[in-house]
Amino acid sequence: MPLATTASIVAAAPAGVCAFNIVTLEHAEAVALAAERTGTPVILQVSENAVRFHLGRLRPIADAARAVAAAASVPVALHLDHVTDDGLLREAADAGFSSVMYDASREPYEINVARTRAAADWAHGCGLWLEAELGEVGGKDGAHAPGVRTDPGEAAAFVAATGVDALAVAVGSSHAMTTREARLDHDLIAALREALAVPLVLHGSSGVPDDELRRAVAAGMKKINIGTALNIAFTAAIEGSAHRGADPRPRLTAARDRMAEAAAHLLATVSGVAHECRTAS
Ligand code: G3H
Ligand code: ZN
Repeated sequence: MPLATTASIVAAAPAGVCAFNIVTLEHAEAVALAAERTGTPVILQVSENAVRFHLGRLRPIADAARAVAAAASVPVALHLDHVTDDGLLREAADAGFSSVMYDASREPYEINVARTRAAADWAHGCGLWLEAELGEVGGKDGAHAPGVRTDPGEAAAFVAATGVDALAVAVGSSHAMTTREARLDHDLIAALREALAVPLVLHGSSGVPDDELRRAVAAGMKKINIGTALNIAFTAAIEGSAHRGADPRPRLTAARDRMAEAAAHLLATVSGVAHECRTAS
């Protein structure tokens, strides 16, 4: 199936859409397998951090993700995530990405607006969908640090000033949680949905329990970003593997299987489709 676009997947989704951060080829394969098993469209995300891991080169992991997406039997789109570097932003269009999350959220408000506006103008000129984030709090998690919340009025002003197509909002989730105990502010999600015409994006969704994810989607959260959950599955499979020897494939197979299970579960939860969990072989 030809590469889908984030805009088309989001626009057509009756409920939520999962966007998974991939680090390796096996992550991408696992997500595509999960999307096929559940019959749901999905977004593969490559973060600026993942590009850094791949020796600072976007194309090897992007080209691999694009090939995996194109081979899938369900719609799969590519998204470039948490981009702070303008040079990387400008590589997006030629590398097959249909959307970018431009992250100037650690900048003061006026600078965030100016940089995001410029990024959105550039993206729209290339036919790309641009997501951004409003936040003024420093630290690793920026606007997704525990306790930080997005104000609906400020968010509406930010969207109007920047022209972005989607907004990442802080409603109680936090990046890189390894336990699923985040509690979301559902009244705030409803207020943000009311205040904003653009799709809402939940970052740090690995730490959000299933019932909270379902409630968030029901209240209007659209794009659900998930990274750590796949890495937990990957690492648990590698560390728990009984395989010994030089060949990495048995362990990577187990890791891919475990990631596919985790992704299928989350896809079913977020999109509302029924899915029976299967034990990895
Ligand atoms: O942009 C990516 C996400 O926000 C992933 O967050 O690793 O906590 O699931 P997570
Ligand atoms: Zn994020």
